[in-house]
Amino acid sequence: MTRHQADVIIVGAGLSGLYAALLIDSSRTVDLLVKSALTESNSNLAQGGIAAELNHEKRLIEAHIDDTIKAGSHLNDVRAVRALVNEAHENIHTLLALGVAFDTDEHGTMKTTREGGHRTPRVLHSGGDQTGKDIINALHRAVKKRPNITVHEHTTAIDLIVEDGRVHGLSGLDHDHAIHLYFAPHTVLATGGIGAVYAASTNSPVATGDGIAMALRAGVRVEKMAFIQFHPTAFFDPAKPEGRRFLISEAVRGDGAVLRNIEGDAFMKKYHPDGDLAPRDIVSQAIHREMYDTWCDHVTLDTRHLDTAYLSQRFPTIHQALKQHGITLGEDLIPVAPVQHFTIGGIKTDLEGRTTMPGLYALGECASTGVHGANRLASNSLLECVVFGRRIAESINQNPLPVSRLALDNTFPGSAPYNYAPVRKKLGLMMEEHVGIVRTAKGLTKAKEELSAMRKTLVRYPNRHPRYHETLNMITVALAVVDDALARPTSIGAHFRIN
Ligand code: SIN
Repeated sequence: MTRHQADVIIVGAGLSGLYAALLIDSSRTVDLLVKSALTESNSNLAQGGIAAELNHEKRLIEAHIDDTIKAGSHLNDVRAVRALVNEAHENIHTLLALGVAFDTDEHGTMKTTREGGHRTPRVLHSGGDQTGKDIINALHRAVKKRPNITVHEHTTAIDLIVEDGRVHGLSGLDHDHAIHLYFAPHTVLATGGIGAVYAASTNSPVATGDGIAMALRAGVRVEKMAFIQFHPTAFFDPAKPEGRRFLISEAVRGDGAVLRNIEGDAFMKKYHPDGDLAPRDIVSQAIHREMYDTWCDHVTLDTRHLDTAYLSQRFPTIHQALKQHGITLGEDLIPVAPVQHFTIGGIKTDLEGRTTMPGLYALGECASTGVHGANRLASNSLLECVVFGRRIAESINQNPLPVSRLALDNTFPGSAPYNYAPVRKKLGLMMEEHVGIVRTAKGLTKAKEELSAMRKTLVRYPNRHPRYHETLNMITVALAVVDDALARPTSIGAHFRIN
């Protein structure tokens, strides 16, 4: 068993983990744990961009706040939303200083676009539709230049080390399944969402809800798990209904694309005055309804009235991906269907990212800062990562604590080869069927029974293998979603109950 000591532990190397690590004072040591390679994260996949009102005009700032709260069905924490919007400017400038090149026009002004729920164009992007990838690449370069940050790749975080009601670090497994104990006075969970719990998702398969499950096991408060956001326009490939689904960014609708059902009707105005640019929960629920009414497993996205040359240059990643399926932007209808995309709830935090247990912070998709309410406004998630990443880093920088040195006598099970794939498949299909866009008490109750039985079996046969821990985490967070969904008999935002 190897012991490590640092001033700060950060778990997860998406935008939130990397950004917080870079803003921690360089005199402090940071252990950054990543369960696969540094390059694998959900942030990498973000196409649309980062919502940021850079104009200080009060009217525009208030409009971004208002759009965020409307999209969130007023379940947002208004103080958190104000922090999010007001602190966009300084964090975008930090990203620029770290080497992120947002797209600019011929005058050097940053280009902005509209997405669903945004009344003005305020979404910045990079490389057209490669915003996440460009930001992450810049932050990787910056992290490599920081000797105080030690990156531990292929290291799976297992459980928080808690003593006297305080988190002192965590246990982890390296790629040889050897146990490591990481100690620090400050631990930041930035482990992302729970997309892999669903059979199909836009998320990377690494999104297995590890941080949320660790928090639940330690008795840290987790909230609003019922609010799972389904992205309306994942590319629909009948040959690959499961696994990671390719996203057709909402920015394509921001540039004028129109949703049509399989009979050719443009339907969105029927559901919301903002039509194709209505908030995401409304668009996904409308598509679900249209698919039901037309007996079809998808709808289509129409770009045929738009310019192919412009679209291919504005959306190079989407253009290339569609070409592999023989589809050309600006010429062909694109088959799309909603799919799991974002975990709105998570580990409850205050405005400094502190959880309900001292020594533990949560950041990014695994956190519930209160900014998203019952439905996240498009492109607010990358903004949340940087605004609250800075807040956490500043809180840690101002708050030195004595080094945690604990004797830990936990016992760990042996590692046995066991294939957890069938359990995961069953889990994914059940979540799609009973805990998807439309939910019923009967379906949720059935899901709860099955999940409880699955968890019981896993707990009875512990295993040191990282896949065991991931699978246990997936079932733990799935149960948290179901429990919260059962406790909310009325529909709001992304949680849609029909009985
Ligand atoms: C998109 O590009 O549509 C996704 C962006 C987001 O989830 O905010």
